[in-house]
This record gives sequence, C-alpha cells and structure tokens, in this order.
Amino acid sequence: MTIIRLGFNVSQRSPILAGAYQCRSSITCATDSGHYFSRILKKWNRGGSRTPRRVLLGLGVSFWAQLMSMAGSSSTVGGKSFIAFARQKGVVEEVLKNVQWPEQFPFKEEDFQRFDETPDSLFYEQPRFVTHIDDPAIAALTKYYLKVFPPSNMPGVSMLDMCSSWVSHFPAGYKQDRIVGMGMNEEELKRNPVLTEYVVQDLNVNPKLPFADNSFDIITNVVSVDYLTKPLDVFKEMCRVLKPGGLAITSFSNRCFFTKAISIWTSTGDADHVLIVGSYFHYAGGFEPPQAVDISPNPGRSDPMYIVYSRKLSTA
Ligand SMILES: C[S@@+](CC[C@H](N)C(=O)[O-])C[C@H]1O[C@@H](n2cnc3c(N)ncnc32)[C@H](O)[C@@H]1O
Repeated sequence: MTIIRLGFNVSQRSPILAGAYQCRSSITCATDSGHYFSRILKKWNRGGSRTPRRVLLGLGVSFWAQLMSMAGSSSTVGGKSFIAFARQKGVVEEVLKNVQWPEQFPFKEEDFQRFDETPDSLFYEQPRFVTHIDDPAIAALTKYYLKVFPPSNMPGVSMLDMCSSWVSHFPAGYKQDRIVGMGMNEEELKRNPVLTEYVVQDLNVNPKLPFADNSFDIITNVVSVDYLTKPLDVFKEMCRVLKPGGLAITSFSNRCFFTKAISIWTSTGDADHVLIVGSYFHYAGGFEPPQAVDISPNPGRSDPMYIVYSRKLSTA
C-alpha cells in the first residue's frame, strides 16, 4: 500500500490548486488513513500497550470509509452510510478517551510536508475576505465560545486568536482589554473588529510567540491547525504564554487549503484529525489531557465542526 506523500515537485507545478478548497468529507480526505494509522497502532502495540478499543473505534471510521471508497462499494455498513456513521454525533468525542500515547511523538518529518512548499507569505499575500466554514458551523462555534469564554469586558482577561483573519467568530459585541490576533495577512487582521492588536508572523518559519510567559487566559485557533508544520514547537509556546489554568481551543472542520495542509492531515479523516491535534497537546507537555467535542450543527447537512481543547496545568 502506497502512503500518499505530498511532494515538492508537484506543488511547484500546481500553484493554481493552492486556491482550491477541498478536503470536504472524511471519505475524500481519508485516502490512506486506515493504513497509516494501522502502522501507528502497530507501533503503539509494539511498545507494549494494547490499543484501547475506543481509539480503534474512532480511527475505524476513516479506515472503513477509505477502504470502501477504494473498493468502489456503496459505502454502507449495516445499512448505514459510512459518512453518516462518521458524522454520528459523539463518535469523534471518543477518540481522546483513554488514549495510551506512545512514549515518543509518533509522527515523522515527512508527515508535515505540504503539496505546496513555497513560502506561506506568498500564499497569504492577498487578503481573503471570505469565511472558511458555512454559517451553521460558524454559529455552532460562536455558541460554544459563548459557553466557555469568560464574560465580555472582564477586567484582566487577555486572549490570543492564532491563525486569525478578518473574523474570529467570537460572540457579537464580545470585548476584552486585550485580544491579540496572529495571522499571515495584515489587511485581514486590520479589519477584524474584535482584535485590540495584531501580529503578522509565519509560524512555520518562526514558531516562537512574541509574548511573555503566562500572558493569556484563552487561546483560540480556528480551522488552521492543519497548516502548522512545527506543531509541537507552537503548542509548547502556547503552553508557555497561557496563564496556569488557561484554556487553548482548537477547532476544525473537514475543509482545508489542500495544498497548504500537512500531509498527515490530508491523508486522514475527521476522527484521525482529533487524535492528531490531541497528540500535539499531549507531546507539547504542560497541558491537561486533551478532550474533544463534536459541535457539528447538522451532521451530514452542513460543515462538521470539532473542538479539541486543553487547559495549561496549574503546575506548569
Ligand atoms: C483557513 S484560514 C482561517 C482563518 C480564520 N481563523 C478563520 O476562521 O476564518 C487559515 C489561516 O491560517 C493562518 N496561517 C496559515 N499558515 C500560517 C503560518 N504559516 N503562520 C501563521 N499563520 C498561518 C492564516 O493567517 C490564515 O488566515
């Protein structure tokens, strides 16, 4: 079985694809996920720990979807479509329960390669005043934020929206003394009404966050974690700049700028993505065990939306 690796040559030949917004469903994304993860799982097992059933369940979603789409079958199991199965609320929430992580970070350098390895500053040179998920998914995210964010205008609260743009999807009228946006396009960040300041920085070139230790109560990252090629460095930095007990919230759907997303993301499905982001928190260290929430508003009818979150340990 060939593992899909997105290489340099192809990327440079296909700059037009860079604007495409693909990766729409577990099935189209999960080109080789089952086999990829079965390798990882084998490795985990070799390490002596039995893979928990629940992890297999989560990974099984993309594995079976991939297997069936490759076989050209009608993609059904027990009369249920695999997409419907993957989108059953709660399936991805199981993925991070009782994970027995391998001792070492299980991903390799090639897992973080992209189809388009040209500088990200080129790709993000022009502003995109668009939204990257549909309205129901945005509404679900905003509703989730309303539930977990500190009340608006709370003295002393500082927030950081990483991989930000002209929108942060915060609740309407939400304010804090300090809300920093970090992103790649200054025009977009300038227009973001919720930000009190912004920083343009390519995290794939410089993952060091330009903030003091223990600065932020909340860090958000919306539909962008899949573009990070040095995620462990970035997550370590997130831990450093969070206040003890501070909350980091990553959210993602099943869409991406395919050519700019890392290969381990484009070759796997939704449940795998939860595990991948969970692993970033786990191996960065200093965080509580990460948890997943499925906030998909209308499973199967609008964009799915997943949250993987964790708090900085109070002792870190
Ligand atoms: C799909 S957009 C999402 C923007 C915004 N979070 C939203 O929800 O609309 C991806 C964002 O990731 C950010 N990004 C991509 N590559 C990056 C990099 N190398 N360093 C920092 N930010 C990056 C860009 O600023 C871009 O706005």
